[in-house]
Amino acid sequence: MHLEKNLYSIDKKLLVQAGTIINIRTLKNIAGSSGKIRYVPIKNTPIFTDWIHTFKDKRYSDILYPHEINLKIISYIRRIKMPDKILTELAYMKEVSPYTYNHSLTIAVLAAKIALDHSLKNKYAPDMALRMSLFHDLGKSRIPLSILNKRSPITIDERRIIKTHPLIGYVLLHYYFGKDCKAVAFSSFQHHERLDGSGYPLGIKRLNKYSHLIGIVDTLDALISERPYRKSPFSLRAAIDLLLDESEKGRFHKGLIHTLIRYARKKRPGSKLVIAERGRDKEPAGNSYGKTAPLTTRKISGK
Ligand SMILES: [Fe+2]
Ligand SMILES: [Fe+2]
Repeated sequence: MHLEKNLYSIDKKLLVQAGTIINIRTLKNIAGSSGKIRYVPIKNTPIFTDWIHTFKDKRYSDILYPHEINLKIISYIRRIKMPDKILTELAYMKEVSPYTYNHSLTIAVLAAKIALDHSLKNKYAPDMALRMSLFHDLGKSRIPLSILNKRSPITIDERRIIKTHPLIGYVLLHYYFGKDCKAVAFSSFQHHERLDGSGYPLGIKRLNKYSHLIGIVDTLDALISERPYRKSPFSLRAAIDLLLDESEKGRFHKGLIHTLIRYARKKRPGSKLVIAERGRDKEPAGNSYGKTAPLTTRKISGK
């Protein structure tokens, strides 16, 4: 694998020259090149305030409850420490793409919530889910905004460029986390992979379990968010229905999707959210999410 453009760190260091093959040796060299890593408690940074703010997001009031569980997740956030340079990356992301920044904080909280419920059965750790989710889209800060914010369906070439963000993030995370990068770097590299091999960049079927969890909440958030490429977002119900469809195709772990359904049901016992039945909520009109110009078939794997 290689990148078409030079890749620089936030401190303007050239990490990968355009065209260089990225293999284990390249990554090892990058991981050892950032110097001494200084870990900073996230609770002492503006990121903490922004993170806590995500619990007030009304779109997720049917998922992020009860209050005691939210407080438990916040207690995990309070204990997180991150390399100082990567916090500069996050501040940069907030500046150039506030959507991606808020999306990263939001999906980290959603992933932590599911991880709490699956801590025994599937051995998920909420603090790992938080740490790994935060940087899954780090590579997007190197994708031109003209592509990220495009209002119309993207071209095949633009899609190819967007699809480099998992690899860009993977390399950047090697740089910022040094030898501690392994788990966190996978979150970037594999979050668009799917269990049936239909994802990217490699089309693998055996994924890191946190990357898979991130892939689920990442897709959910992309569907229910206001985006320039569609008139209105999916409702929470329509989005969960779509995830369920994807799980039936073998792309997502069914148990994790059923957990999302349970949240929505418990909060609204009278709601009609059902598993795999007709009469689901519809995709919003004018949606070009996941579509390539000229229009082809619908594909739901996030941008
Ligand atoms: Fe992504
Ligand atoms: Fe994402």
